[in-house]
Amino acid sequence: MLGLGKITLTHFKNYEFSSFEFPQQVTGICGLNGRGKTNLLDAIYYCCFTKSYFTNSDALNVHFNKEGFRLEAAFYNNGKDQQVVCIHRGSVKKEFLLNGIPYEKLSAHIGLLPVVMIAPDDIELITGTSESRRRFIDTVMSQVDAAYLLELIHYNKILQQRNSLLKKMDTVESGSATVLDILDEQLIPVGSSIHSKRKAFLQELIPLVQEFYQQISNYAEKVSLEYISQLNHENFEQLLKQNRQKDILLQRSNAGVHKDDAGFLLNGQPFKSIASQGQRKSLLFALKLAEFELLKRHKGFSPLLLLDDVFEKLDAQRMNQLLHWVCNENSGKVFITDTHRERLESALEKLNVAFSIIEL
Ligand SMILES: Nc1ncnc2c1ncn2[C@@H]1O[C@H](COP(=O)(O)OP(=O)(O)OP(=O)(O)O)[C@@H](O)[C@H]1O
Ligand SMILES: [Mg+2]
Repeated sequence: MLGLGKITLTHFKNYEFSSFEFPQQVTGICGLNGRGKTNLLDAIYYCCFTKSYFTNSDALNVHFNKEGFRLEAAFYNNGKDQQVVCIHRGSVKKEFLLNGIPYEKLSAHIGLLPVVMIAPDDIELITGTSESRRRFIDTVMSQVDAAYLLELIHYNKILQQRNSLLKKMDTVESGSATVLDILDEQLIPVGSSIHSKRKAFLQELIPLVQEFYQQISNYAEKVSLEYISQLNHENFEQLLKQNRQKDILLQRSNAGVHKDDAGFLLNGQPFKSIASQGQRKSLLFALKLAEFELLKRHKGFSPLLLLDDVFEKLDAQRMNQLLHWVCNENSGKVFITDTHRERLESALEKLNVAFSIIEL
């Protein structure tokens, strides 16, 4: 069982210096708008993922007019204490320590403390660009397969080199084509491996999403999902060859797994264009709960579940159904924010679950 006993935030976002304890299975985090509910969830996420859920810029996480921040969290897993400390000191590289030992590579921490966040803006996952769907897929897979994360980092590095070479190609003549060949040779095995891993992953994820969607919609609707990739039909080497002229002309790489996407259909029609708001939300929850189930299956224990403002997103019936699943059918630790303390308390009381409330 994975849990979090306590977290201390120093100069993190709106927090100057605050500690919070989480003694029960469920923690309700209440307070008015702008009090720091989302920021507290983000601090928890940060300790699991070595970065914010919302931004890649650590400067934005530092309390206004301060130099850096510190997060300290006492996790436990299968009876073992796992203390996480993150120290960010402005310009120097941040330090991230597990039980007092600093990580050389932050990526080594990913997956140790699996976590699933559901936040209002996540609806982007359905309505936004393919990038948000790739990020979702990569976030889940990185927690399950550490080698995948390293391959992804490697792929992006080569891709970046390839793109900057393409940008220079009209000025530098001979030699560039050879360098491009070398980069392609490096890119092909990594890209192909990412493709086959994503394919296998989606084969596992899709039935879970469909099952959750059916439950949430009370079996009224059916969604289908597919993995969209140029590499589904052709091997990567051929694709790179076919796109070589276009790449040089447009000065960027047009073929590869960085173009992958996931397509959603509702009763056979494109989801994005026909689904109602409630249906989009239902699909979002189905995707996230599928993520949760899949992580649990692979890790052998439940991830932490961070629910930000979910009350604002669903009608009472669907909310109660969701909370029932989250609190009664799941034994993992859950953190739920809400602006209405009474609403949250009365919902949790009905569920007969051990909970504590933090009032900000
Ligand atoms: N780097 C920072 N330094 C100081 N304050 C910050 C920083 N970043 C964000 N804030 C403040 O944090 C507050 C927002 O916190 P947060 O998003 O956690 O609120 P919330 O309780 O989730 O509110 P809501 O109910 O509206 O979602 C804002 O007042 C914002 O100005
Ligand atoms: Mg918030």
